[in-house]
Amino acid sequence: MEWLKQTRDWLDERFPVMEFWRGHLSEYYAPKNFNFWYYFGSLAMLVLVIQILTGIFLTMNYKPTADTAFASVEYIMRDVKWGWLIRYLHSTGASFFFVVVYLHMFRALLYGSYRKPRELLWIFGVIIFLLLMAEAFMGYLLPWGQMSYWGAQVIISLFGAIPYIGNDLSLWIRGDFVVADATLNRFFSFHVIAFPMVLLGLVVFHLVALHSVGSNNPDGVEIKSKKNDKGIPLDGIPFHPYYTVKDMYGVVGFLIIFAAVVFYSPEMFGWFLERDNFVPANPLKTPEHIAPLWYFTPFYAILRAVPDKFLGVMAMGASIAMLFLLPWLDRSPVRSIRYKGWIFKTALALFIVSFVGLGYLGTVPATPIATGFSRLFSVLYFVFFLAMPFYSKWDKCKQPPERVKYK
Ligand code: HEM
Repeated sequence: MEWLKQTRDWLDERFPVMEFWRGHLSEYYAPKNFNFWYYFGSLAMLVLVIQILTGIFLTMNYKPTADTAFASVEYIMRDVKWGWLIRYLHSTGASFFFVVVYLHMFRALLYGSYRKPRELLWIFGVIIFLLLMAEAFMGYLLPWGQMSYWGAQVIISLFGAIPYIGNDLSLWIRGDFVVADATLNRFFSFHVIAFPMVLLGLVVFHLVALHSVGSNNPDGVEIKSKKNDKGIPLDGIPFHPYYTVKDMYGVVGFLIIFAAVVFYSPEMFGWFLERDNFVPANPLKTPEHIAPLWYFTPFYAILRAVPDKFLGVMAMGASIAMLFLLPWLDRSPVRSIRYKGWIFKTALALFIVSFVGLGYLGTVPATPIATGFSRLFSVLYFVFFLAMPFYSKWDKCKQPPERVKYK
């Protein structure tokens, strides 16, 4: 293996390979008590890579014009060798991306990972989440099915509700008076080039911020505050090999579930690919029930819960903007849910019920009962954030330990 060492040294004299390896892997110390919830960051990176790779191969046969898009996707599914697999990996990958990212965000809520000194890390995350939603929205137009078309029509026309500039703004986004060829062309360009590039850049920022402040952990204890005489955190272990191996275990578990869905139920009963999207877009025929895919429905339900269109759009925007404020809303003396009191735990439980409830309500027609529940859950959603400065302060917390607990 002498030649391997020589190659490494040759490279190292010209490029900081070993410095990177030590600084970010073999001598990067992470808390020793990571649990199940800490799989989802590395899994999000894995899904990002899957999406980019399958996307490259889809683009080789996809044709982004209103006349050819739908047929080119059918061509990929039927005639291109392994085309069906590449397409299903990409469409299932999109939904799995959101499953993974929602769980990743939930972990941050559980353990207070958004709090000082990780505010910027969290904010990069929220921007990634916003871009991911835009990326998925634009990708969904590309197959040019009925849902692609009408979904885009509904969402872009929402901008029309903004006073003064609304109509011009939606015209500018579409590039035409209705969703049309021009819209498809520009969404294609954003979906395959602009957004993936920015997303990748932000993930790098996210990780640089993470490695600069260090990971939080299920106890919420700052491991950097207790170091040995060599400056190594007492409760830290080297990321490599401990967490590279642990993350591989997560990857295997993830791939088993992912493959099961890709091979046995890629449409997931209409949750991952809607039935109406197997019908070519028809600008003259509105589908009976237009609903976005499941990962947008909590926000869509908030939009529909407000009777006024403009206020609905504002409420939907505010529901996402709340996430940016989170680091400054939580005034609890402790970070992790393990040491928070019953008020915070109840608020978090109600928030989860509301979010999942809104997610369901966004998929069903807006009957009076559904709208009533959407309103109730929307109020609970906002109360969770807006009342947090008060209840997080009043809450009776337990004393967190000095050092992380690890069995
Ligand atoms: C493409 C999407 C994303 C990727 C690839 C990604 C990647 C990662 C990785 C690898 C970690 C370290 C491992 C871990 O703690 O699980 C991490 C930590 C973190 N991420 Fe993300 N992330 C993404 C999206 C998000 C989003 C949307 C948010 C929040 C809105 C977020 C917030 C955080 C926070 C707060 C931490 C630190 C957690 C802790 O130390 O307890 N991330 N991320």
